[in-house]
Amino acid sequence: MKILGVSLGTKNGNNDTMCRVALETCKEMGAEIEFIHLLDWDIQYCSGCVACSRGLVMGKGMICSRKDDFSTLYEKMIEADGVLFVDPIFESGASGLYHVITDRMGPGHDTGMLLGLQEALAKQGKDPLNPRYFQQKAISFIAIGGSDWAVRCETDHAMLAVSPGWKIVDNDYFSWSKDVIMQDDKIARVKEIAKNLVEAAQYIIDNHVMIPGSEDLDLWKGKEGACPHCHGNAFYIFPGTTHAVCEYCGMEGHLEVVDGATKFVFDESIVPNGHIEHAHDLVSGKKAHGDDIFANESRLMNLFKDPEFKARKAHYTAVCEPTTPPSKMK
Ligand SMILES: Cc1cc2nc3c(=O)[nH]c(=O)nc-3n(C[C@H](O)[C@H](O)[C@H](O)COP(=O)(O)O)c2cc1C
Repeated sequence: MKILGVSLGTKNGNNDTMCRVALETCKEMGAEIEFIHLLDWDIQYCSGCVACSRGLVMGKGMICSRKDDFSTLYEKMIEADGVLFVDPIFESGASGLYHVITDRMGPGHDTGMLLGLQEALAKQGKDPLNPRYFQQKAISFIAIGGSDWAVRCETDHAMLAVSPGWKIVDNDYFSWSKDVIMQDDKIARVKEIAKNLVEAAQYIIDNHVMIPGSEDLDLWKGKEGACPHCHGNAFYIFPGTTHAVCEYCGMEGHLEVVDGATKFVFDESIVPNGHIEHAHDLVSGKKAHGDDIFANESRLMNLFKDPEFKARKAHYTAVCEPTTPPSKMK
């Protein structure tokens, strides 16, 4: 079993240390471990060129216009049975680098889209994709903060698992943790998170769990959340209503208080997002989303030839030129 630990903190800082605490436990449990200090890697932000989603829906392959270290990071995650991210909390949420990784995991690594590509490759008589792309994976997240601003980090972190459809085991954060190496309760919790991750990875290996077909599998070991599907606690509440959307899995419903606790109840009258098969982390939800994207991209491709579309583009492009970036001035 391989466990990959990725830290996004400063070199040998608190995030690196907590990642190593977890990896030590994984190693003691018999796992092969690998540690990545991500700030050393060349990871460029997603430019939004959508070459990845076009490549997938047109059956061309996994394409990314950025040539950097991300594809190696992705392959390392694919080859691991369990992945742990340890990320510093910035402005109550994930670090900027973490958001970049989440974007880069986006459409181009969406399992629903990859399944579509797999079908297209088979029709073209081409080699299939690496079967590990479709193997289920255990993933956990730890956020380390220097203060008590933290409420967005769990959702930010969980979003990375949506695109591949990997199963989250733990998603925790530690506030006031500049001296976390001296806080034994937090070290004990990190070791527990590592143990949970190894056990979940072992379950996946023993049962050959693939992503299509593991819709009902729940490997979650964290606190019970308000969302009964993804255990999330972050919701967008439509102003003046109890109507809400789970920020992680996209399910729609309403919030109500039951026995003193806020509960999220799916609203099946909302088609499609009140229906569990449309949850964003499930293959069924991904396929539906992929179909919507395909229809949208096709409409746009046709519009590129439309005279009215071209005229509007030309009109607004002529309004102003962008400022030359200082780094590109002679
Ligand atoms: C730009 C920036 C924003 C930060 N925002 C928060 C925050 O909102 N909440 C928090 O608890 N800590 C915040 N911190 C503190 C970092 O989480 C802390 O410095 C980091 O976890 C230390 O990790 P390291 O020792 O691994 O580098 C912030 C730090 C920086 C640099």
